[in-house]
Amino acid sequence: MALERTFSIIKPDATARNLTGKINAKFEEAGLRIVAQKRIQMTKAQAGEFYKVHAERPFYDELCTFMASAPVVVQVLEGDGAIAKNRDVMGATNPADAAPGTIRAEFAQSVGENSVHGSDAPETAAEEIAYFFAGIELVG
Ligand code: RTP
Ligand code: MG
Repeated sequence: MALERTFSIIKPDATARNLTGKINAKFEEAGLRIVAQKRIQMTKAQAGEFYKVHAERPFYDELCTFMASAPVVVQVLEGDGAIAKNRDVMGATNPADAAPGTIRAEFAQSVGENSVHGSDAPETAAEEIAYFFAGIELVG
C-alpha cells in the first residue's frame, strides 16, 4: 500500500479532557507517524471555512461554534494507507456505532463532540493539510 499523509484534528472536547497523549498513542500503535502537529484555537470563521462542505447541514452552526470553543491539536499523520487507516482508528462518527477500541468508542462524548476529525479522501487530505500547515513545517 502507498505511503500517504492525512490530516487530523484532536477536537475541543478531547483537548479539554487532557486526552491528546492517549489519542496520539492510538495513532502510533496503529502505525501512523505524527509528522507535524500544533495546538491552536480556531476562530468560528476559520472553523466555518474548514467545514464549509457541511454549510447546508442542520448541525453546521453548532459544529463551528464547538470547533472554535477551545484549543484543538491539528496534525499530519503519515503511514501506509494513512487516510483509511486513520478512519479505522477513529471509529464511526457516532460513538454509539464506533467499534470497540477505536478513539471515538473510548473517548467521544456524542455525535458532535466526537474527539477527532480525519480526512476522508486524498483530495481533502491535501486541501486540509495545506489549510493549516506550510510546506516548510512538513519534514516527514
Ligand atoms: P470528521 O469530518 O470530523 O472527521 O467526521 P466524520 O467524517 O466522521 O463526519 P462528518 O459527516 O464529516 O461530520 C463532520 C462532523 O460534524 C459533526 N456532526 N454532528 N449533530 C449531528 O448530527 C452531527 N453530525 C455530524 C461531528 O463532529 C462530525 O465529526
Ligand atoms: Mg468528515
